[in-house]
Amino acid sequence: GRVAVLCGGDSPERQVSLKSGGRIFKALQDRGVDVVMVDAATDLVDQLQTIKPDRVFLALHGASGEDGTVQGLLDFLKIPYTGSGVKGSAIAMDKSRSKLIWKSIDLQTPDFQIVDAATDLDAVELPVPCFVKPNSDGSSIATFPVYSRDDLKPAIEKVLAHADKVLVEQMIEGPEFTVSILNGRPLPGIRLETDNTFYDYEAKYLSDSTRYLLPCGLTEEKEQELQELALKAFDSIGCAGWGRVDVMQDGQGNFWLLEVNTIPGMTDHSLVPMAAKAVGYDFEDLVLELLQATGQ
Ligand code: DAL
Ligand code: MG
Repeated sequence: GRVAVLCGGDSPERQVSLKSGGRIFKALQDRGVDVVMVDAATDLVDQLQTIKPDRVFLALHGASGEDGTVQGLLDFLKIPYTGSGVKGSAIAMDKSRSKLIWKSIDLQTPDFQIVDAATDLDAVELPVPCFVKPNSDGSSIATFPVYSRDDLKPAIEKVLAHADKVLVEQMIEGPEFTVSILNGRPLPGIRLETDNTFYDYEAKYLSDSTRYLLPCGLTEEKEQELQELALKAFDSIGCAGWGRVDVMQDGQGNFWLLEVNTIPGMTDHSLVPMAAKAVGYDFEDLVLELLQATGQ
């Protein structure tokens, strides 16, 4: 049957999504699939009714596409799609609600505080160093590390210009790891190293000097602990199919959950394709595997 790759949209991650979608489209085309690429705009329903896809490959990142909105629309239209459903998508896109669930089942996640336009910024109590970021965006857009109390308020004000809810989160000073989940199975972890202050937008998509360690350098036992944590984090917030779990490790070797991405990047700098490659999947194999799991 026909497949529609949904990408673009109007979130701050539009450009990343167009890259992910373009690669997925090409991979499916190369494997002989009848595929159409769709830029998701407000005429999405009309486009779907014209194209009449049997399945949708979701390559949207950020609000609307990754937060359950489009998933609900596709459920309503009875079109199967890749990845998490409405509930898992909505919770994963809301970092603070994900963290509340993890805390409630004793999965470690950095302390945090939510700030919105009504919050008295002088009353924010979380100690520095911390990160200030939108509660619901990805790709480190509008994300700022804060090392001194004086810088906290201006950072929050900057993020409030982009986002209704700001997450102020304790900084874990240590390496960042990421674990991809593919159809219920955690893939090998990747350790991220950058010369930037942290793994920001530039380090993610533009830099040629970001280092991706795979194998990630942990002992076998420690990597297993990381993978089990990632899978629990993914399952506990209702995610399904595939995704990527971002985790920090502190100086004592303990892991701290940051977030789950339900539609991870699939660009040529992205992490799920790297992890899949390590277990023998070409990019095209990965895309077909994800597609085959839809509607099951
Ligand atoms: N939010 C980006 C696309 C990622 O997590 O890969
Ligand atoms: Mg992340």
